[in-house]
Amino acid sequence: MTHTHAFWLAGRQAAGDDTFDVTSPWDGRLVGTVSVPTDGQVEEAVAAAHAVRAEFAATPAHVRAAALDHVARRLAERSEEIAELISAENGKPLKWARGEVGRAVSVFRFATEEARRFNGGDAQRLDTDPGGAGRLALTRRFPRGPVLGIAPFNFPLNLCAHKVAPAIAVGTPVVLKPAPATPLSALILGELLAETELPAGSWSVLPVPNDRMPELVRDERLPVISFTGSGPVGWSILESVPRKHTTLELGGNGAAIVLADWSSDADLDHAASRIATFSNYQGGQSCISVQRVIADASVYERLVPRVVAAVKELVTGDPSDPATDVGPLVSEDAARRVESWVREAVDAGATLLAGGERDGATYAPTVLADVPSGVQLACEEVFGPVLTLSRAEGEEAAFAAANDSRYGLQAGVFTHDVRAAFRAHRALEVGGVIIGDVPSYRADQMPYGGTKESGTGREGVRFAMDDYTYERVMVLTGLDL
Ligand code: SIN
Repeated sequence: MTHTHAFWLAGRQAAGDDTFDVTSPWDGRLVGTVSVPTDGQVEEAVAAAHAVRAEFAATPAHVRAAALDHVARRLAERSEEIAELISAENGKPLKWARGEVGRAVSVFRFATEEARRFNGGDAQRLDTDPGGAGRLALTRRFPRGPVLGIAPFNFPLNLCAHKVAPAIAVGTPVVLKPAPATPLSALILGELLAETELPAGSWSVLPVPNDRMPELVRDERLPVISFTGSGPVGWSILESVPRKHTTLELGGNGAAIVLADWSSDADLDHAASRIATFSNYQGGQSCISVQRVIADASVYERLVPRVVAAVKELVTGDPSDPATDVGPLVSEDAARRVESWVREAVDAGATLLAGGERDGATYAPTVLADVPSGVQLACEEVFGPVLTLSRAEGEEAAFAAANDSRYGLQAGVFTHDVRAAFRAHRALEVGGVIIGDVPSYRADQMPYGGTKESGTGREGVRFAMDDYTYERVMVLTGLDL
């Protein structure tokens, strides 16, 4: 038996006229029924956000920090329950769901600290020219206005945290729209926000169906949009509201590059283990999972069997079992798409070294070599537990192969050579280069985001706070400087 979950409208619980069911991708069981806001209720939430914006921006830092700190503590206290919920609605193995809750705790903790530090102001003397004698410029940041946060299914809690916590930290209202497949974690976040003293209207969590989103996206009272999700949806948002301040965190087909100096048995074992784990974590449904492994020709033959063995060791199965490494994808449709892409690559001449089978929504961890360029697996984001192996003749060729992509989110470079690390940092057209590890490493305080078709703007608590605000200068005159 499940009850119907209310949503959060301007800080209080509300129910609409309609509902939808959230089911487990693993066994199809009902995880929860969620109430859908009516058009009138969405209007109420947006109007409340708009009305409270000046009051919220003026809220003292200690009040915002206390609310953020409260959410961090309550997430930690309820972490096991929330991890089980994430796992149930998303199909993510419990071990990864626990990690996600831990990261969301960190996001709220960082936001607590940043809320206290933010906007100390920066003074600039202007008497550098005779016309500026006795003048001082004081620069502070102010919110651009209420934020519409649109979150994806793959990190149903933490990517909501990345929209909400920076907004509270800078004192700007936020209307959060969770993914239709995974709204329950976001609604729990609402429960914790409702325990704080934040002004009514400063936050809402609205499970609005996707087909009703264009109107909300166009609403001028929400001048900032922070979107994480698919490229086509993200770019269409930007095109529909070019004058809004929009951050897009879109896809990637992350490359892990293994350079020639990463060559001892221990080096290659380590790289293989990290590659296997992070091409398959969350069923590969992370924008920075390892999709393409590009190894220097001198280490390729020794790396391949290690990667294949490490992938075969992964335990696939019930996400609620703490021993499971790889669970189902978000839906059977998603697994069927991955299956069709692998079939396309094999039909075009790729060599299947592991996996390649589907069972319902679960797709087996899969390794392919010799994937011809031009097939979808070579150029699109697979968002599934599939990796491709290729060799490169030297460092320059490896970096060029990694850049041969429409995407540019993160890349990993296995090297011990600090000079090679700097060359990689310069050469790779991505938002983040991880040295000595896979591209999948993300610390929540780091700037995170892409180049090319991977998006625009940066998340990461402090970076989102900058993004949600703009600099406003005040010039003081007649001063004795
Ligand atoms: C994403 O899939 O874009 C998020 C990755 C992460 O937060 O680790």
